[in-house]
Amino acid sequence: MSLHATEQTPHQNKADQIIIGLFQDQKSNKLTEQLSDVSQKQLADRIKHKDFSGQSGQQVTLYNDNGQQVLLVGLGKNDDFSADDLYDTTHKVISTTAGSRCTSVAVYLQAVDFKHIDKQQATKLVTLAASHATYRYEDTKSFKDDNKHALDRIEIFTDKDNAEAFRLAAGISKGINATRHLGNYPPNLCTPKYIAKYATDIAHGHDKCDIDILDKKQMKKMGMGALLAVAQGSHNKPRMVVLTYNGADNNKDPIALVGKGITFDTGGISLKPGANMDEMKYDMCGAASVIGAFVAAVELNLPINLKVFVPAVENMPDGKAYRPGDVITSYSGQTIEVLNTDAEGRMILCDTLTYAQEFNPEVIVDLATLTGACVVALGHNAAAVMTKTDGMAEEFKQAGEQIHDRVWELPLWDVYQKQLDTSFADMKNIGGMPAGTITAGCFLSRFTKDQKWAHIDIAGVAWKDKKEGATGRPVAMLVQYLINKSRA
Ligand code: BES
Ligand code: MN
Ligand code: ZN
Repeated sequence: MSLHATEQTPHQNKADQIIIGLFQDQKSNKLTEQLSDVSQKQLADRIKHKDFSGQSGQQVTLYNDNGQQVLLVGLGKNDDFSADDLYDTTHKVISTTAGSRCTSVAVYLQAVDFKHIDKQQATKLVTLAASHATYRYEDTKSFKDDNKHALDRIEIFTDKDNAEAFRLAAGISKGINATRHLGNYPPNLCTPKYIAKYATDIAHGHDKCDIDILDKKQMKKMGMGALLAVAQGSHNKPRMVVLTYNGADNNKDPIALVGKGITFDTGGISLKPGANMDEMKYDMCGAASVIGAFVAAVELNLPINLKVFVPAVENMPDGKAYRPGDVITSYSGQTIEVLNTDAEGRMILCDTLTYAQEFNPEVIVDLATLTGACVVALGHNAAAVMTKTDGMAEEFKQAGEQIHDRVWELPLWDVYQKQLDTSFADMKNIGGMPAGTITAGCFLSRFTKDQKWAHIDIAGVAWKDKKEGATGRPVAMLVQYLINKSRA
């Protein structure tokens, strides 16, 4: 699938299908007025016969003499039409097109005058939604010819004012596709080794990129006890993958992104129940998100220095596995009593956070499918951001609003810290039932004491269900954050 900008009018455009939006009770707009006479006549007839009034959800297909389809989409009332509506409408319409016989489509949904959405944002949302709707997982599935998607070209109407918005969204969608691939790829194939290879291929494709991979031996020598404790129950050996992108001056401190890369989370000796355990293949979606953000940053040539840290580890029960009661010394030197081997994400992240600080990053942001409690708190609509650094939560909330990929803040007040107290180590790895997402954040905060840092729990947003799979969230928000930083 390829995404392109087009400046052509609906009449000039030769795509198999042209998609245009019309608000309720409008007989025409500046786009329908540019259609061929044949189409305009059909539209007038359909409106006259009350087949179409522009109500939200309504659609009507017109045909040009050459067989080209013009799809008119009802947008409802402009007063009520939100950015969410534009994204959802585009996604729905293009999903249908993707399943049709059309090989190319030109989208003009963003080109009407909205009351509540500005042009640039509309272009971004429509581009992202169209790309998202045409993604199809194919890596381990064979399609019969008649079940292959025909659509291979999407054109997005773009004038001078929103050419940059299109460029950004197209770059972001490349990152999102990488993230969705990694998330959906099965855990027997998407191993720590595979993630390392995938990252290596990205780095080798660009001259401003570098890669460094630590193996088990090196991590052992360094003393990454918490990460290695999780890894020791699996035959798939762990990796620490570090991707570097030099898009700015050498003397500029990098932005560091850390992504939880548990390639499969059985829970370990504190074994998870069987139902839906397969979904724990998505437990590397933090890693997939930061790799996706890296892909987008490189694609967009952002003027920033970026470092992406991915601890890639499998959490399995085994004769060598770590157990509840174990006391582990982390890379920071702080000791951790393991009271639940299923709280493994924070174990691999704490060592990675300590390691990342050795590179003097301006800020560190970690992303993780860290707690089931986050899904209870915010559902599937927003990721949770936690930070002790002034202003950072606002930056993520703002980036999320800008690009339809929301986050919401949970507090990291010190009063929660005591839930991690234990008689046998500096801390335990679980904080009990109350505020499970926050106490996980508190745990991580102990490893970032003198560092600007934010933690984002993406357990509710990284995947939808078994059918839809990985969403690619929150790559759009993350890249928008990087774009905003690059302009600040
Ligand atoms: N990967 C899970 C969190 C998770 C569970 C995300 C379900 C999305 C859906 C994480 O490693 C985990 O198991 N967390 C435990 C923590 C608990 C033992 C303190 C949890 O949330 O139950
Ligand atoms: Mn777990
Ligand atoms: Zn996990």
